[in-house]
Amino acid sequence: MCGIVGYVGAGAPSTRPQDVALEGLGRLEYRGYDSAGIALASPDQPLISSAKKAGKLVNLREELDARPLPNATAAIGHTRWATHGGPSDLNAHPHLALDGKLAVIHNGIIENYYLLKTELVEKGIEFTSETDTEVAAHLLGQEYLVTGNLTKAIANVAQRLEGTFTLLALHADQPDTVVGARHDSPLVVGLGDGENFMGSDVAAFIAQTNEALELGQDEIVTITPHSVTVTTFDGRAVEGNRYTVDWDASAAEKGGYSSFMAKEIDDQPQAVGDTLLGRTNEKGDLILDDLRIDEATLRTIDKIIVIACGTAAYAGHVAKYAIEHWCRIPVEVELAHEFRYRDPIVTSKTLVVAISQSGETMDTLMAVRHAQEQGAKVISIVNTHGSTIPRESDAVLYTHAGPEIAVASTKAFVSQITATYLLGLYLAQLRGNMFRDEIQAILTELRAMPAKLKEVLDRSEHVREVARSMADATSVLFLGRHVGYPIALEGALKLKELAYIHAEGFAAGELKHGPIALIEEGQPVIIIVPSPRGRDSLHAKVISNIQEVRARGAHTLVIAEDGDTDVEAFADEVFWVPQAPTLMSPLLTVLPLQVFAAELAGAKGLDIDQPRNLAKSVTVE
Ligand code: F6R
Repeated sequence: MCGIVGYVGAGAPSTRPQDVALEGLGRLEYRGYDSAGIALASPDQPLISSAKKAGKLVNLREELDARPLPNATAAIGHTRWATHGGPSDLNAHPHLALDGKLAVIHNGIIENYYLLKTELVEKGIEFTSETDTEVAAHLLGQEYLVTGNLTKAIANVAQRLEGTFTLLALHADQPDTVVGARHDSPLVVGLGDGENFMGSDVAAFIAQTNEALELGQDEIVTITPHSVTVTTFDGRAVEGNRYTVDWDASAAEKGGYSSFMAKEIDDQPQAVGDTLLGRTNEKGDLILDDLRIDEATLRTIDKIIVIACGTAAYAGHVAKYAIEHWCRIPVEVELAHEFRYRDPIVTSKTLVVAISQSGETMDTLMAVRHAQEQGAKVISIVNTHGSTIPRESDAVLYTHAGPEIAVASTKAFVSQITATYLLGLYLAQLRGNMFRDEIQAILTELRAMPAKLKEVLDRSEHVREVARSMADATSVLFLGRHVGYPIALEGALKLKELAYIHAEGFAAGELKHGPIALIEEGQPVIIIVPSPRGRDSLHAKVISNIQEVRARGAHTLVIAEDGDTDVEAFADEVFWVPQAPTLMSPLLTVLPLQVFAAELAGAKGLDIDQPRNLAKSVTVE
């Protein structure tokens, strides 16, 4: 989704505001975008200087090389993910008003833009784009003419807008000031020395400062080189929550890998390990990060509903198997956008678990609010500190995966599974469903997982070879049972989004109820085989499923546990993973599927980090 950067600096020759803005936009590229632009203010210039281009940042840089902008003291920058109006130079941000004295950038959707536009057109204002943002720019221009004060003007505008927005504005007459306003859309402030920053998230300014200020809902921030002032939309002064970001700049860079995704795949052992860190007190009992629900309430919970989207929802799907098994509480897993728009049965005894890497996914945020309105308590499992979902939840369990830059989720997924397991064990501990020793034994198993993840990744070369040989595949099917089922769904999603290949995941037991009709000579089928050491007869059932598809000509690629001698006879290829308890196995079996999808996409020459049409942080419904 859109990326936003704001900067005011004392103008040291080495830090040109234009460069700071462009660098910040570069760090926000991972959010997904289709055009980019910047606006600059300078005491020497009567008007705002600006440039904007459709396409990637390189187009904007080329434009700036061809037509350089004058030096400046303040800058705002934007990467746009089109909603109202296609990706074009004209629709790119910034949008100007007051004959070029004012510039505005925006993330979100202004739902009442049409009504406001009609009002402005009646006043004789001409529009040059199809965007909802331009309405905000002209409205702000009108308010500035009345108030003569950018902060006051943006507050008045914010109160007239419906929908979601982060707005940043720059006025030529205040060349050392950037003003931002947020409503249901992200904005954080970076605190510097003689300079200050704003960004959609901390990646925008992490190279310059790791001191940040979290903004609340419906707040306005005004930055100058030496001051940061926060107020509510109705003008009340607010402190803001200051914090230190523990991600360093290199964590947000590729670290020598060919793609962010390749790096993030390799980061996974650490992501799981870090998510497990610091979770027990001196007695060895589990503790959660930020629990604002009293224990008595948690003891009375009679149902859990996990809400999330995409990969995060598949993490929830895995969690269902573990939490039901450990806590004996029914767990439903539902896509957040489906949950929000039906009439779910939610009571004060329902615990809603919202899972989100970004903490900003609008579908999930809306579902959180809906659940709370129905009286449910919400625990969120989120990777991004300072984001909206944890702030609005009753409790938070942070995954410590570090910044996930590639659009397709990898390390967030394994840390989300890990965090849901911690939550399940915490509830089991609290409600007395398990003995202390049982919980400790599972924690020991979990703590052994990072080394096993590393072992799987060390064996990736075979997966890569096979993936490269399949660059011409047009359809791949994925089968799994029990916790292997959500992994089949996740494997198929990874392949779709990265390699643009038709891919579908099925519960292997469904095969004979329809999907087997798809099998013909050469059809690739990837099967996740449960451990032969598991409790039930699942292993034998999946072996039968492999035989069924193979007998009909399928090309079978099998993910199996070390020592499983039964599979080899029926598999064209085997990707081996170390032995692990069944509930821990998804942390291992998903890895070859991620490597497979990324390698195949690479073999097709595709952009692995930013697949077409996708955005990292989906901040509109
Ligand atoms: C797929 C992927 C998406 C996200 C989904 C939710 O690789 O990344 O399916 O998982 O958009 O995003 P978050 O977790 O930020 O709420």
